[in-house]
Amino acid sequence: MIEPSERMTPPMPLVQPAVHSLLAVGIEQPRLDEAEDFYSAFGLHTQLEGGGMALRAATSAGPAATLREGPRRRVGHLTFAAFEEDIPRFKTHVEARGLKLIAPPRGVEPEPGSIWVGDPDGMAIQIAPGDKKTPDARRQSQLAAPAGWRHSPTRAATRPQPLRLGHTFLFSSDLERSNRFYLDVLGLGLSDGNEHVSFLHGRHGSDHHILGFGQSHAHGFHHLSFEVANIDQIGVGGQHMASLGHGGWGFGRHVAGSNWFWYIRDPWGGWIEYFCDIDYIPPGTEVPPRELAPEDSVYLWGPPMPEDFIVNPEPA
Ligand SMILES: [Fe+2]
Repeated sequence: MIEPSERMTPPMPLVQPAVHSLLAVGIEQPRLDEAEDFYSAFGLHTQLEGGGMALRAATSAGPAATLREGPRRRVGHLTFAAFEEDIPRFKTHVEARGLKLIAPPRGVEPEPGSIWVGDPDGMAIQIAPGDKKTPDARRQSQLAAPAGWRHSPTRAATRPQPLRLGHTFLFSSDLERSNRFYLDVLGLGLSDGNEHVSFLHGRHGSDHHILGFGQSHAHGFHHLSFEVANIDQIGVGGQHMASLGHGGWGFGRHVAGSNWFWYIRDPWGGWIEYFCDIDYIPPGTEVPPRELAPEDSVYLWGPPMPEDFIVNPEPA
């Protein structure tokens, strides 16, 4: 069993303030009743609260995503965490870049002590003081194996259990501009990318990516991604969702991050991913730029990618 990372990592002496964790994604969408069925089947804990629905994974107390009823699916905001002593530095840093702090979106309860800024596509970004939630080491998957010589787990003992939110992947209307904002203003690092995609990590030590972007005609949502303990959990989860009529794409392996994956198509034009064994980038690592070959942008191997996998449902 993978233990949650509760260890507090001291702030690194970075020149500019940097967020260390992606805490939650704020999503608006229709049909919260359908959302409850879908996300529960995926393995998340759903709870009606604050006029919307909170989705929680097994190892974090706070929500990984908050859903609010709206006429169409859209990402309203992202919440990142930074060390408390970095929050005043962020205020100065944001203003020094000619940006203004903004008010939280209507109906969203802000985290105590947080500040808000708008990204170049107009999405609200919350920077909240808090402990580091991103793991402090690479988590290698552990196969469930009962004691003794019989190592085959049973289906009953292998239910998909998302442990934590790993990352979200969004569409950007201007990839270069988005990269600049998230690197310069939020202090993220570029792990891999090309003119079509970018994968960004936290510079206090994090997964290979806690945020990704794909170039598109408009800002939009692509997927949420949750870590599970091992490839059995990925396989059983994907198979379970398919048995309920929620098809997807998997089992496969990415190049960027080298994680195993299985994506499930959600009922609102987006995706949700099970993953494990993602690369870890230690604090202070200078990541040499790597231009991903176009054929490496999405995956190394797996079933053929569905034709509509990289479709931004936002109107042109
Ligand atoms: Fe992903």
